[in-house]
Amino acid sequence: MPGLTAYGGFIELCSPKKGETVFISAASGAVGQLVGQLAKLFGCYVVGSAGSKEKVGLLKNKLRFDEAFNYKEESNLDAALKRYFPEGIDIYFENVRGKTLDAVLLNMKLHGRIAVCGMISQYNLEQPEGVHNLMQLLAKRVRMEGFSALDYYHLYPKFLEMVLPPTKEGRIVYVEDTVEGLENGPAALVGLFSGRNVGKQVVLVARE
Ligand SMILES: NC(=O)c1ccc[n+]([C@@H]2O[C@H](COP(=O)([O-])OP(=O)(O)OC[C@H]3O[C@@H](n4cnc5c(N)ncnc54)[C@H](OP(=O)(O)O)[C@@H]3O)[C@@H](O)[C@H]2O)c1
Repeated sequence: MPGLTAYGGFIELCSPKKGETVFISAASGAVGQLVGQLAKLFGCYVVGSAGSKEKVGLLKNKLRFDEAFNYKEESNLDAALKRYFPEGIDIYFENVRGKTLDAVLLNMKLHGRIAVCGMISQYNLEQPEGVHNLMQLLAKRVRMEGFSALDYYHLYPKFLEMVLPPTKEGRIVYVEDTVEGLENGPAALVGLFSGRNVGKQVVLVARE
């Protein structure tokens, strides 16, 4: 599921090209880590944001992102993005919304693409926050499009054809965060919303 989500949203919806610049939020999560590695396979320049020093290290070292930063330590996200993308962002893989989306909108390139995969910062709010910089879609002719992994289910064989060889060769790796016991499932689920998980959260119910 996370793999097909990454494939559909990034490859099919954004049509990446070699040399393009890619930004991914919640980049160490189940989907983001795969988007980044697919982008590297395409020869893109890839930057991810994540919520801890440990996750930033994971993105830069194990997952081979070009750059990564801790969004919680950046007082000005617009300035942070200008630091990593002096010429702008071609593709933004949106997982969070909030302040990140507003800063990204200010840094998109002409004819950029935004794949809206998720908006996790808004899921538990009674009143969703506003998005302030949507005018940039017009000024920069940016295409922003939501999708569901299910839209790409018919392309599962194509997805496997693309990812199996690099996975077997170790050019795509996968980070999982496993808790043991069904009784620990609810806390693991709640932990997704505070960033407690490092990689794909898995609940191991039984070993048989
Ligand atoms: N369109 C689809 O078909 C589809 C399929 C699967 C998932 N999704 C969506 O895609 C997004 C990523 O899913 P995932 O499974 O990769 O993530 P995940 O592994 O569940 O990880 C979620 C991560 O989101 C970050 N996060 C949580 N609350 C946040 C907040 N308030 N602000 C910013 N970041 C926050 C945390 O990382 P940090 O520590 O880095 O903050 C957390 O570890 C989610 O929005 C999910 O709903 C969509």
